[in-house]
Amino acid sequence: MATEFELNGQAVTVDLEGDTPLLWALRDELDLTGTKYGCGIGMCGACTVLINGRATRSCITPVEDIAGATVTTIEGLDPNGQHPLQKAWVETQTPQCGYCQSGQIMQAAAMLKDFPEPTDEQINQAMGGNLCRCMAYVRIRKAIKMAAAEMNGAGDSQAETTGAAANE
Ligand code: FES
Ligand code: FES
Repeated sequence: MATEFELNGQAVTVDLEGDTPLLWALRDELDLTGTKYGCGIGMCGACTVLINGRATRSCITPVEDIAGATVTTIEGLDPNGQHPLQKAWVETQTPQCGYCQSGQIMQAAAMLKDFPEPTDEQINQAMGGNLCRCMAYVRIRKAIKMAAAEMNGAGDSQAETTGAAANE
C-alpha cells in the first residue's frame, strides 16, 4: 500500500504493508539510517523522530498512521547539521558510543518547544524515556541547556553558566 507523507521537507511515498513500522521505512526504504533500532517496543527512545512536531517512537508507529503527516528525522533537523542542539552536543562531547544520541536529540528538540528554558526537573521528565547505556545523562542535560541558551539568544556566556550549574 502506498503511503505519502512529508519527510524532512520533501514529499515521499513508500509502498509497504500498512503495519510496517515507520523505523523500517526510514532505514530500509528511504536510506535514512540516523534513526536507530534499540528495543523495538517503544521503551528506549533510540528510534525517536518528530511527527507533526511531536517526539514519537518510530519503531511502534505503523507507516499507515503517518499518511499526510510531517516527519522530521535527525537528518532533517537542520539542513547543515547545525541545529543548536547538534552544536551543543559536539561542544560538550556528549556522545560516547553514540547509538542513542539521535533519539536523544530529537526528543530534546521536541521538549524545547514546550520548555524553552527547561529546568533540570523538566529535562529529566521529558528525557526520562530515552535510555543511554553509556550513562551520558549529565552531558545530555548540559548540552540541552547550552542549546536552549543559544536558542533564547543568550549565547555562549550563559550556556557556560547554565552548563556549569548542571550538576556535573
Ligand atoms: S527502538 Fe523504538 S523505543 Fe526502542
Ligand atoms: S552514548 Fe552510548 S547508548 Fe548513549
